[in-house]
Amino acid sequence: MMATIARCLLALFLALAAPVRAETVATLASPDGVLTVEFGLNGEGRPEYRVSRLGRPVIDWSRLGFVLADAPKLERNFALADAARRSFDETWEQPWGERRYVRNRYNELRVRLAEKSGAKRAMDVVFRAFDDGVGFRYEFPDQGSLRAVNIVDELTEFAVADPATAWWIPGGEWNRYEYLYEKTPLEELSQVHTPTTFRTENGLHIAIHEAALVDYSAMWLRRVEGRRLKTVLSPAAEGARVKRTAPFPTPWRTIQIADRAGGLYESDLLLNLNEPNRLGDVRSWFTPHKYVGVWWSLHLETESWASGPKHGANTANVKRYIDFAAKHGFRGVLVEGWNVGWDGDWFANGSTFSFTEPYPDFDIEELSRYARSKGVRLIGHHETSGNIAHYEPQLTAGLDLYRRLGIDAVKTGYVADAGGVQARGADGRVVFEWHDGQVMARHHLRVVQEAAKRRIAVNPHEPIKDTGLRRTYPNWVAREGARGMEYNAWGAPPNPPEHEPELIFTRMLSGPMDFTPGVISLQGRGQKLQSTVAKQLALYVAIYSPIQMAADLPENYERNPRAFQFIKDVPADWAETRVLHGEIGDYATIVRKDRNSEDWYLGSVTDEEGRVLDVPLSFLSPGRRYRAQIYRDGPSADYRANGHDIVIEEREVTAADRLPLRLAPGGGQAVRFIALPARGRR
Ligand code: NOJ
Ligand code: CA
Repeated sequence: MMATIARCLLALFLALAAPVRAETVATLASPDGVLTVEFGLNGEGRPEYRVSRLGRPVIDWSRLGFVLADAPKLERNFALADAARRSFDETWEQPWGERRYVRNRYNELRVRLAEKSGAKRAMDVVFRAFDDGVGFRYEFPDQGSLRAVNIVDELTEFAVADPATAWWIPGGEWNRYEYLYEKTPLEELSQVHTPTTFRTENGLHIAIHEAALVDYSAMWLRRVEGRRLKTVLSPAAEGARVKRTAPFPTPWRTIQIADRAGGLYESDLLLNLNEPNRLGDVRSWFTPHKYVGVWWSLHLETESWASGPKHGANTANVKRYIDFAAKHGFRGVLVEGWNVGWDGDWFANGSTFSFTEPYPDFDIEELSRYARSKGVRLIGHHETSGNIAHYEPQLTAGLDLYRRLGIDAVKTGYVADAGGVQARGADGRVVFEWHDGQVMARHHLRVVQEAAKRRIAVNPHEPIKDTGLRRTYPNWVAREGARGMEYNAWGAPPNPPEHEPELIFTRMLSGPMDFTPGVISLQGRGQKLQSTVAKQLALYVAIYSPIQMAADLPENYERNPRAFQFIKDVPADWAETRVLHGEIGDYATIVRKDRNSEDWYLGSVTDEEGRVLDVPLSFLSPGRRYRAQIYRDGPSADYRANGHDIVIEEREVTAADRLPLRLAPGGGQAVRFIALPARGRR
């Protein structure tokens, strides 16, 4: 008894005597030397890391490690067994993206940790320091003492050093990623999705997210205390949250750091932390394009997904869309509600959908032939209502049908509450999973890979979040994963004017979004959009996707041909992207260069405040003349009173000019800069 007490007291004494703070055992600097990562072990052998900028901590000492289901946690008792360094610098080409060429330059530190006693398990942590941030991941080596890795909790922390404002949506709530952004002091966060964006008191911009989420659960962030955030892995219906066999790496945990909000958006860190393209020459079968479709009418309820007199996906109606697309140069025609299973409450219809059987009034053979004869393609649709137990057995047959018909893009959908995805459990029974758990990470990649075999591009709605996997699988062209245009159609509160300038610096940091802009009628179901027409046009440049929908009804475009012209002209295929200025949730001005011409495009959006912004045109080629086609808010434009007031005008400009932008409350501006032929020498 006495001996036990003495042992306890000794243990307590040693614990108190051991330095609580980590001691740096290895450091790493970014190529420009501005960022440093320190890796440390505290007196208990607990691994931690710290990230500093110009010597000042940005992320203070933060813990690393895991709690396992069937083995002691991997958290203490470690010694540094090895530290290896390397540098890397390469420029790679994207098949499509915000820019064509991406520089991937970093310094890497790999630490091998080994337990000092017990099972003496090993674990690697790999840090990469870029000029625009830091990524790190764990690697579980092949070792007899830890083969089956069943992770119930990842202990990775992010202790934000300075007081900061945070922009976030809740993580683990029923509506998945479809929330309006909150702006609060960091200390008011509870549990949030990533990317989470912060602006510190000193004006530094930070975004925390993850890259290469493969066969693992997505990371949410939970505030532990003060400004210390901790990883929460999305749950699993059965067993541990992550079940893997070593060797394997975890996804990268990423910390992007920039002076300007625009610097976060311009960062390619997430793509650089993903594996290179595994699909080869995707550009020969997927090129960025715009599309129209039987869609807005469904959300307005003037047409229905279900069969009956209002059925939108009928042959005559879809021919009308194909004719419209052909006439105005859109490549795609999305058709929702084409397949059997939508009747009744389709939210609950996951087990009735067929992915091969069209409704009788939708002649899929004839329509795909008719579309192709006009240089247009149908875009397929697989709404699963979140029932992958029912979808997966039909997946290949559904994709084979599309392949045979020349339908080379599919929009998928997982409308179910978070935690309500129905999947096949280990014993064959249906279990309820999360949209961003390991099961769905696997499911999405399986769909993308099966689609790639058939040269089909994929665009999931109610998806798992984007972590840059488009680099590895460039047929994963877009996704939803935020509140899109559809909210403006419903009776629910429409998206407020600040929504898009929030999206640009939060959700859009992760990758392309199928936002479906361009509702220039500004008319939802019994409610108006909180936007001006000019802002709807600006969204084609401001919210990136290599597939962009012209979401409004064809008749609304035909009624407004002058504004529609910008939607017809704007490309979805870019060579370069720059954020000229912007503040999170307030405004943003983005310019992009067309990949197929010398033209540039500008999109500027604001929140509920009207603004005058000054834009130096120095991004244009020096010495060249451009015809600027300007689509700007008119003098009486205001999202509350008159969103329709738009001025469309032209002027000639050069890189030496400045363009004042006058954005109305809730407004925006779109500009096409057409490169004029150089004047011949006399
Ligand atoms: C939700 C999607 O976001 C929307 O675009 C689609 O029309 C419906 N689900 C039906 O699949
Ligand atoms: Ca949705």
